[in-house]
Amino acid sequence: MDNRPIGFLDSGVGGLTVVRELMRQLPHEEVVYIGDSARAPYGPRPAEQIRDYTWQLVNFLLTKDVKMIVIACNTATAVVWEEVKAKLDIPVLGVILPGASAAIKSTTGGKIGVIGTPMTVQSDIYRQKIEALSPEMEVQSLACPKFVPLVESNELQSSLTKKVVYETLHPLAGKVDTLVLGCTHYPLLRPIIQNMMGPSVKLIDSGAECVRDISVLLNYFEINRSRDKHELNHRFYTTANAKRFAEIAENWLNLKVNVEHVTL
Ligand code: DGL
Repeated sequence: MDNRPIGFLDSGVGGLTVVRELMRQLPHEEVVYIGDSARAPYGPRPAEQIRDYTWQLVNFLLTKDVKMIVIACNTATAVVWEEVKAKLDIPVLGVILPGASAAIKSTTGGKIGVIGTPMTVQSDIYRQKIEALSPEMEVQSLACPKFVPLVESNELQSSLTKKVVYETLHPLAGKVDTLVLGCTHYPLLRPIIQNMMGPSVKLIDSGAECVRDISVLLNYFEINRSRDKHELNHRFYTTANAKRFAEIAENWLNLKVNVEHVTL
């Protein structure tokens, strides 16, 4: 047993999609979350800067005495997961491998689309991981740089968002049977994305898939939180406006949350 919290990091509110799934699958676990909304989006930034920012978030979580870190951001996972994992002596999970495996499992015709930030798509990591596991898959990737700013400003249903999603995803329409939401912000736009791609396209939420891995590691290292400890004190931190973060978090998690502003 280990009653310490699990640490989650993201460039902003996107990692909340992973937290929601954690709360559904592992409701006894406690969460510490840091979102760097003041500097989001990370996706168009150079790799070196994403690396620096991610390390700042990791170091922040370490001050909160977490038992595990989840890099709940595809962009940061693409750039720095291997390095963080190698340096820390607690388990560190990323969201890309779980998303890649789930896409292989789900596809019926071997045609997989991947949408993500410019850095995630440029890194080509999804294609590499998918083809390494299953070489006959055909992977088409598409960067969607306009999606994260819309989610960060809580524009989840607006007509502008619908227009942007439709225009951006147009090149993939009718070309894939499975689409990996390769950015943890994108599940917040899921209904619009599904509508654009059509009901037969299976959407893969990379963050949600990673919760199964969290569960496996908690069991493997025997670091589950005790079920007798009922008092959960989830803590959320943002580098931007706490009220705006709380608005998005409360809607998404359907829960009253404590959000504190921090400067890194
Ligand atoms: N949620 C991050 C991801 O999964 C978004 C990165 C960004 O801020 O551009 O890639």
